[in-house]
Amino acid sequence: MTDHHTSLPAGKMPVLRVMPMPSDANIHGDVFGGWIMAQVDIAGSLPAVKRANGRVATIAVTSFTFKQPVFVGDLLSFYAEVVKTGNTSITVHVDVYAERNRLDTEVVKVTDAELVYVATDESRKPRQLPPLQA
Ligand SMILES: CC(C)(COP(=O)(O)OP(=O)(O)OC[C@H]1O[C@@H](n2cnc3c(N)ncnc32)[C@H](O)[C@@H]1OP(=O)(O)O)[C@@H](O)C(=O)NCCC(=O)NCCS
Repeated sequence: MTDHHTSLPAGKMPVLRVMPMPSDANIHGDVFGGWIMAQVDIAGSLPAVKRANGRVATIAVTSFTFKQPVFVGDLLSFYAEVVKTGNTSITVHVDVYAERNRLDTEVVKVTDAELVYVATDESRKPRQLPPLQA
């Protein structure tokens, strides 16, 4: 099902906004999936680092759906939130919206994904998550 809106999600702040350039696309102007995956990994790490209060490593990408293509010049907004935590792991859900033909305010949900990060110590070993800050 396509997911067309006229505005970005209300009451939420994107953790990252970025615009793909021609070097991120194939000859038809469609942006490479791998480029989007890299940005999603960065976006997801932001709330994970905050929750871990320190460094994290990506251990798994548990789901990744490209719902709509992304084009050069789309303004992408990445929304990321922690949906689950364990002893050392943090699961983050990431939604990506594209503002396309921006003068017409067309907003399209292009991608959603779930990634798991592990809090790590200086020797790159798993580290217990700190208690939640009040
Ligand atoms: C991250 C790393 C230090 C974890 O060490 P590990 O010994 O493999 O991890 P563990 O088996 O102790 O599991 C750690 C946590 O990850 C979770 N986990 C492990 N495999 C998982 C998977 N496939 N999916 C989801 N969660 C997973 C475990 O359930 C555990 O969570 P919990 O502590 O909250 O219960 C290690 O796997 C690593 O260095 N991986 C490479 C990371 C990296 O470089 N990523 C960038 C891409 S190259």
